[in-house]
Amino acid sequence: MIYLGGEAEVRIEDVVVKKRKPKRYRLKEIDESLRIKRTRTEAKLISMARRIGVPTPIVLDLEEDTIVMERIYGTPVKDCMNEEISREIGRLVAKLHSANIIHGDITPMNMILSNDKIYFVDFGLAFIDSRIEAKGVDVHVYFESLKAGFENWEKLRDAFIEGYLESGSEDVIRRAKEIEERGRYVERRLQ
Ligand SMILES: Nc1ncnc2c1ncn2[C@@H]1O[C@H](COP(=O)(O)OP(=O)(O)OP(=O)(O)O)[C@@H](O)[C@H]1O
Ligand SMILES: [Mg+2]
Repeated sequence: MIYLGGEAEVRIEDVVVKKRKPKRYRLKEIDESLRIKRTRTEAKLISMARRIGVPTPIVLDLEEDTIVMERIYGTPVKDCMNEEISREIGRLVAKLHSANIIHGDITPMNMILSNDKIYFVDFGLAFIDSRIEAKGVDVHVYFESLKAGFENWEKLRDAFIEGYLESGSEDVIRRAKEIEERGRYVERRLQ
């Protein structure tokens, strides 16, 4: 199976091969070095997350614009979401944030339930940042994806918050809610 995303081409075989696609609007040399740099960052953060106890695929190989990684067999979280899973996602995101890893795209599409563990599979937009704002935005992106995908999004959001607060900071949750408010304010002004 081949999955064509915005940034990458992902081949799902016995292993998963994720290759960052060239962007034609960028100068060739700049594009190449950017892709190599981002691919390295992605591989590094997948491994760093795994070391601190957040399930991620094992990185098997890294070459320029391509990551070869372990295939995770399981159910995409978008197809099995419930409160218990959202609470566990909260715990795991707090763990990432304790190491200042910002995932950048926490959505049910980018997580897989396998052997009762939730794997984060897509670190394509991840980066390191210790600020509350970066962590708040990270959580906000997840809340938005819940709203877009599930009728019981409020319950799922509250379960996430419970899980997050077991070890994570209240300031981050407060900031995520403020960011939502900012968004609403802009929406009202644009009406
Ligand atoms: N290691 C893996 N094991 C099993 N399935 C995977 C794995 N990695 C990715 N997938 C599947 O392939 C899909 C696409 O992969 P991924 O999310 O990494 O690409 P993308 O969304 O195009 O990336 P980006 O956000 O960097 O543009 C995922 O949603 C997931 O279903
Ligand atoms: Mg993805």
